[in-house]
Amino acid sequence: MSETTEKTSGTPTGDPDMVNPAINQRIVSPWMFPLSGGWRMLSALGKLTFTILFILVLHTLDTAIFLVNLVWPSRSAEALVPGRYSPENPPPFSQRPLTWVLCCLESFLGDRLTPTWITYITHWEGIGHDGRWEHSFETPPQGEGATWSRCPCPAINAMANHGIIPRDGRHITPIQLAAAVHNTYNLSLTLSIQLLAAFYPFYLERGWFDIEDLGGQGVIQHDGSFLREDVNSPWAFPTVIGTQARPSQRLIERYFPASNTKDYTWQNHSAILAHRRADSRNHNGTFVLNPLQYVFSSGNSALIHEVVGGKMHELRPWIGANEYGWEMHIDGFQPKCKQGWGMSILQLQIWTAIIELGAGSLSGPRFPYKNDIDAYQGWNADQAKAGAEVN
Ligand code: HEM
Repeated sequence: MSETTEKTSGTPTGDPDMVNPAINQRIVSPWMFPLSGGWRMLSALGKLTFTILFILVLHTLDTAIFLVNLVWPSRSAEALVPGRYSPENPPPFSQRPLTWVLCCLESFLGDRLTPTWITYITHWEGIGHDGRWEHSFETPPQGEGATWSRCPCPAINAMANHGIIPRDGRHITPIQLAAAVHNTYNLSLTLSIQLLAAFYPFYLERGWFDIEDLGGQGVIQHDGSFLREDVNSPWAFPTVIGTQARPSQRLIERYFPASNTKDYTWQNHSAILAHRRADSRNHNGTFVLNPLQYVFSSGNSALIHEVVGGKMHELRPWIGANEYGWEMHIDGFQPKCKQGWGMSILQLQIWTAIIELGAGSLSGPRFPYKNDIDAYQGWNADQAKAGAEVN
């Protein structure tokens, strides 16, 4: 290594990645603070205004959808998951008016002038139409060189496993996922957009994301999930904890056992949440569940309840209790929410509140660190050998 490299990089190794910013970075003059601070404050205010406007518009439209759904006829089994359509062969106007308009617009503009986000909405392969799913199911390749991306959400994994979104789960744009979730699960357009909006940091700059991005623990994925292990649990499979890609068969058998023959109701989902949160908090010394994560967590239970329903023979394969260990739709599956304009945000919020209130407040002891022996016996102590008891 030359002497020059050592001097300019400020590190003995000369590795540019090892540059010490405290020594090498340009010194900022304090006179710049009012200018840069003022600019940052203005830009933050702009973002806040945009967010408030976005929420207002989305929720006003959604309230309209909620009210219209009360009188509009439900979707027929035929129309629930639409058949194949494209600009040349648009869906019936009466069933999907917005898609029909966009199909006509694309036909008029032609391929070159149509923005890509429109083409995501105007093309649909018809997978799942009339409850036909299984022919399209493929499991992600495993082992060395396996590069498919999967995430903690059974709904998104199932869509990737069936090829409704790209099977490798990579370079997904928010509109693409919103359009897919709208058609696959009969969610309203407003709800499909809202579910994606919460994840904007993942795609804001690039315009796309890999679905595994959703698995960053502590962001949206959280401790006390009922289908995924906490990352420091001894049952967390070491290759999966980074992305939370695979369901935990241990948790599935605990909360959705094969032996159960009764259909699940919202009370069952509340009971699962209450038990899982308390159990996780009691064993995990670093247990965190912030208020937003409470809402995500009961929102997921509300989605299962309203979209997948309580029948074990559909629910279990959907969460990954099958010979493959991956989320799938069985033949005959259809979303249980059949509203003419799809399930609205308001409807989901009502069910989220019911299930959250049913779960009650988190009670029971937090994992106690009284001494080294306690710490040794806790899940944290198992980090080094995480995955010893594999999924
Ligand atoms: C585009 C829409 C969606 C996005 C971006 C999304 C995202 C996520 C994320 C990040 C998680 C992990 C965090 C957590 O456990 O709270 C998750 C979990 C989950 N999602 Fe989704 N989701 C979407 C749609 C759906 C739909 C339509 C359903 C139901 C039909 C659903 C059901 C669930 C369930 C059951 C879990 C697991 C909860 C747990 O293990 O505790 N999601 N989702």
